[in-house]
This record gives sequence, C-alpha cells and structure tokens, in this order.
Amino acid sequence: MAVYLDHAATTPMLPVAIAAYTQAMSVVGNPASIHSVGQNAKRMLEEAREQVAATLGCEAIEVVLTGGGTEAVNLGIKGLFWARPGRRILVAGGEHHATIDTVEWLAAHEGAVIEWLPLDEFGRLRMPELERALADDPGDIALVTVLMANNEVGTVQPITEISAAAARAGVPLHVDAIAAYGQLPIDFAAIRADSGSVGGSGLVALSVSAHKIGGPVGIGALVLSRSAKIEALIHGGGQQRQVRSGTQDVAAAVSFAAAAGAVQAALPEETARMAVLRDRLIAGTIAAVPEAVLNGAPPADDDRLPGNAHFSFAGCEGDSLLFLLDMAGVAVSTGSACQAGIPEPSHVLVAMGRSVDEARGALRVTLGHGSTDADVDAFLAALPGAYAQAVSAGHADRATSFDR
Ligand SMILES: Cc1ncc(COP(=O)(O)O)c(C=O)c1O
Repeated sequence: MAVYLDHAATTPMLPVAIAAYTQAMSVVGNPASIHSVGQNAKRMLEEAREQVAATLGCEAIEVVLTGGGTEAVNLGIKGLFWARPGRRILVAGGEHHATIDTVEWLAAHEGAVIEWLPLDEFGRLRMPELERALADDPGDIALVTVLMANNEVGTVQPITEISAAAARAGVPLHVDAIAAYGQLPIDFAAIRADSGSVGGSGLVALSVSAHKIGGPVGIGALVLSRSAKIEALIHGGGQQRQVRSGTQDVAAAVSFAAAAGAVQAALPEETARMAVLRDRLIAGTIAAVPEAVLNGAPPADDDRLPGNAHFSFAGCEGDSLLFLLDMAGVAVSTGSACQAGIPEPSHVLVAMGRSVDEARGALRVTLGHGSTDADVDAFLAALPGAYAQAVSAGHADRATSFDR
C-alpha cells in the first residue's frame, strides 16, 4: 500500500461515510414523491442538508446540492453573472481551473470581461488592487470570485476583508472553499455579518465538495444566500429553490453529511495534529534537500492550510520527482495540471511572480485524516534519492531535447 500524501486531490472516504452511504443506498424513494416512502427519503435528505449546513454556518435552505465542486463553482459564477447586468468579472490570479475555465468560457461566449487580480509572493490577493478594481464603475461588475484557500500552495485568503470590500461596492462575491473545507472552520453567516454583506452583495455564494473531506465523489454544494439572485444552469423539476433541478441523490447526501459531521466534530484536534506533521515535513524536506524552497505562506503566519506543503526543487521537473517518488511507494502531486499529457508549469506560481522555470519543479505534499508520522518519515526517506535521480533525468532530458 502506497504512502498516500495527496489528500488535496481526494481523501479516502471515512468509514462513517461509507456506512451511511451503503445503508442509505438500499432505501427506496424519490424525495419529491408525495407518498410516505418518498417522504421518508425526503426526511433523510433534509436531515443531511441540515447537517451539512451546520458545518458551514448557513441555513439548510441555503445549501444547494450539486454533482460536485466543479458544478458548484460553475453555478456560482455563471449563475451570478447571468443574474446581473454587469459584464466585468474580477478574478483572483492562481484560481482552480473550475474557475479559470468557467470565466474564460463566459468571456468567449457571453461577453464577460475578465479582470485578473494580482497575488503577492505568498499567494495572497493584493487588497489595494481589488479595492481599485471595485471602485472603478462597480455597476458594471457582475461578481468577484476568489479561492478561500489555494489548492496548490495552500495560502488562505482574507475572506472577510475581501467580502467587506465587495459589500461596500454592492457587488456579489463567490468563494471557492473546496480546498479549505475540512481544513479550516467555515462560517458563512458570520463572514456575511462581519463583512457587512447585505442582500445580494458581499459573500453570497460558496462552493464545497464532499470528496475532499472524506465523503463520496460526485456530490458537492453551493451555499447560496437566501437573498442572492442567481440563474439556474439546469432546468427541470424545480427542485432546490429551482436553482438546481433534478432528482436528488439521497444516499450521497446522507454520506456527505456523515463525513461533514465527523470532520467538523474533530476539526480543532485534527487540524492541530496535521499542522504539527506538516511543519515536521517542511523542516525535514529543507534539511534533506537544501535546494527545496517552500512556496506559499510561512506556516507560522497561520494563513497556510494545515495539511499543505508545497515546494519548488531547483534543477528538476516536478513530474520526474513525482514519478520517482511513486516508484518508491509515495504518492504526491505536482499540484498543477497537465495539458494533453504534457506537464504545465504551475500557473499559481507564475501568478505569484515566479519564472516559468521555477514553476516547473513544483511538488505538492498534502496531509489528511489518515496521515501519520510514519507517512512523513517515508516521504523524507525517499526524497533525497528521488531528487538526485530527478536532477540527472532533468539534465538527460535537455541533452536529448527535440529542440536541438
Ligand atoms: C479549489 C478547488 N476547486 C474546485 C475543485 C473541483 O472540485 P470537484 O473535484 O469536486 O469537481 C477542486 C478539486 O480539485 C479544488 O481543489
């Protein structure tokens, strides 16, 4: 069994979530049916929605269940865009592709004008740039969208401040909290209240995904403020406030709720435990390979996800390192996407001001609920050898480059 250090990609389902799923799958009934069998399914569904809402600090009615995080982000961004007259979308640099590809599609097909907001060297949104963009003709801004925490480098954004800036300008904010959920406390109502969000301005929509917290793949949620105006993407039977039609997946919702409840109950102890492991992993990596540079916020600043370590390794490709570690039985990630099988330099590191070369040798190591000291030890033991081999492979690649 490989040592699994890629919890940000997906984390193993929790036993309570598997048990809840298998049990609920054998229950029949469409929650929209009038008869008692349907009403029993509806009760299970609504209890699950309440439990998920309790972990997000929102009302149950504000939880719109979706087919995963990507759908939630699409609904949040396209839905808000289509519900408002403005054309401009303010987007933080270094977002997940669920956001990047959605706003680029809106620009290509729906006349949206994208304004990328710069990040600082740690991956934090530059607030004065956001304020400046918001002050310039706010009536033409459809929405602001930003990650709560970056899925590659783990930097946590000042969401209440961002929401307050959007609220002052009367503009809605969508937050992709998919990487943050299960690693940070999230309180939708408190962020709205603390940032002065009223009606449809400030924080109005927030995306999460179940498989990042030990729930099943294929279910997520958009938390949508009661007062937000949104266009539906999927039309049909009018389920879920007519925002997301379609027969609801009771078993997946019940499993999602079981995972969310368990994660929420253990959050303070688990995240403190993970942060200790993370700090040991970071210190051990830099001691083992002095060429390694930590990307993202310094752990001591408290605005780094407790489960995230992300490094640049000079002189090698992140993918070579990933393959060599995999051969040594350790599963990690580069964190960035491949285009048609060709590794791309990390667009997040580029948004943080790094060169394309620096953005190539990146490695993301992420911890989760099952991670142990032994996992960290296994990674640290395999790393120096893998790095030495990756560096020589990097030189060999250059010697046989197709460019020559
Ligand atoms: C920040 C972020 N946004 C969106 C997504 C997409 O979520 P899902 O895999 O549930 O579609 C992910 C998953 O990698 C993510 O980390």
